[in-house]
Amino acid sequence: MIQIMKYDIKDLNLANKGMARIKWATLDMPVLSGIASDFKKRKPFKNITIGACLHVTAETANLMIALKEGGANVFLCASNPLSTQDDVAAALVKNFKIPVFAKKSESKKEYFEHLNAVLDMKPDITMDDGADLVSELHSSRRALSGKIIGSTEETTTGVTRLKSMAKEGALLFPVIAVNDSMTKHFFDNRYGTGQSTLDGIIRATNKLIAGSVFVVAGYGWCGKGLAMRARGMGANVIVTEIDAVKALETLMDGFRVMPMVQAAKEADFICTVTGNVKVVGEEVFRTIKDGCIISNSGHFDVEIDLVSLGKITKTKKTLRDFVESYELKDGRKVFVLAGGRLVNLGSAEGHPASVMDMSFANQALAAEFILENKGKLNNAVHILPEIIDRKIAAVKLHSLGARIDILSEEQKKYMDSWREGTS
Ligand SMILES: NC(=O)c1ccc[n+]([C@@H]2O[C@H](COP(=O)([O-])OP(=O)(O)OC[C@H]3O[C@@H](n4cnc5c(N)ncnc54)[C@H](O)[C@@H]3O)[C@@H](O)[C@H]2O)c1
Repeated sequence: MIQIMKYDIKDLNLANKGMARIKWATLDMPVLSGIASDFKKRKPFKNITIGACLHVTAETANLMIALKEGGANVFLCASNPLSTQDDVAAALVKNFKIPVFAKKSESKKEYFEHLNAVLDMKPDITMDDGADLVSELHSSRRALSGKIIGSTEETTTGVTRLKSMAKEGALLFPVIAVNDSMTKHFFDNRYGTGQSTLDGIIRATNKLIAGSVFVVAGYGWCGKGLAMRARGMGANVIVTEIDAVKALETLMDGFRVMPMVQAAKEADFICTVTGNVKVVGEEVFRTIKDGCIISNSGHFDVEIDLVSLGKITKTKKTLRDFVESYELKDGRKVFVLAGGRLVNLGSAEGHPASVMDMSFANQALAAEFILENKGKLNNAVHILPEIIDRKIAAVKLHSLGARIDILSEEQKKYMDSWREGTS
């Protein structure tokens, strides 16, 4: 019997363009390519179904292809309604026979239908970016959770959600926090988000960053990258924080620190990267500078309080792709990018392939780690062993043509000994 592949994408005819994008990304993903070649020989995922809920980008396509080469049946949906590259989705379906359920700008209803279409395939392993699949598996699709061997999680906000589930004893299977590998958050969150967030803001607005006052909310891994890159483009950067240690670090890195209500008064740009809600809220909108451009690069579209903004708005217009103008009742205007969703994936292409190479090497190896440790991991949030993390770093470094020193026997002995001291 011929089985017809089910999928739901915007347009299969976009496949050639998507294929070109996938190949372009492959050039900068040598670590993942090495893993894919190894998977192709060993087929570690034979008879295993993997359901992935990730941003549907060219880099994710390379991960899906690697898993399929490893013998997995792979199904993919989007982890954000705005982040899908429709041409990449088409190429995955047409050229790689990987079913994708995702369309850029899909409605909330479609988004959840797509999540459930992937769960309908009864996965053994799930991959999440924000924990929406796991959340469905713990609520409306609980019956499927018994088949799950384990899951992987890509981002800080997802890990936070999963840790709170584990704390309540609610987690029904083990999860690997890919985000918490050093070769993920040190690079993807910092250099990836730093560059691609500015890319998203610039592509949406074509505004000059030099000489502007640029406010970054949150000085975590993403915020550090964004503040550093905004300063590099000539902005006068202000950081807002709620953590005294992070705020001190911000000050000593040479940025101004102040509460958001104060920073907003002089902001030309505000970008949130906190993983928290209503960071730009009602009180901020009362004093925000006329003409301010507001965006978010944190995982969910909750950081800018659009409901409160709506209440004080006279007229709302779409000015250009991903730019909405809100004219306030007192005559001021503010502009919100990408509807408050991840600006780097909404109006740009997300992180460069070179950082996703490490993130997705972690994802691929995490999936294999889950299989190898079937039945041995408790229902908690785990991290990949450091040895895997360090191996990824070593391969990446090598691919970039950099070499490092190797400890001599004398140095090893010295570092291990407590007897050595003042000479
Ligand atoms: N755009 C992307 O592609 C991308 C990539 C990686 C992570 N993320 C997401 O970005 C967010 C931040 O991730 P991270 O790894 O930097 O997290 P993090 O935990 O390292 O940093 C978050 C920072 O925000 C601060 N914070 C919390 N509430 C705040 C508030 N009300 N005002 C000001 N600061 C506040 C915290 O103190 C912390 O320093 C998460 O939602 C994460 O999932 C997005």
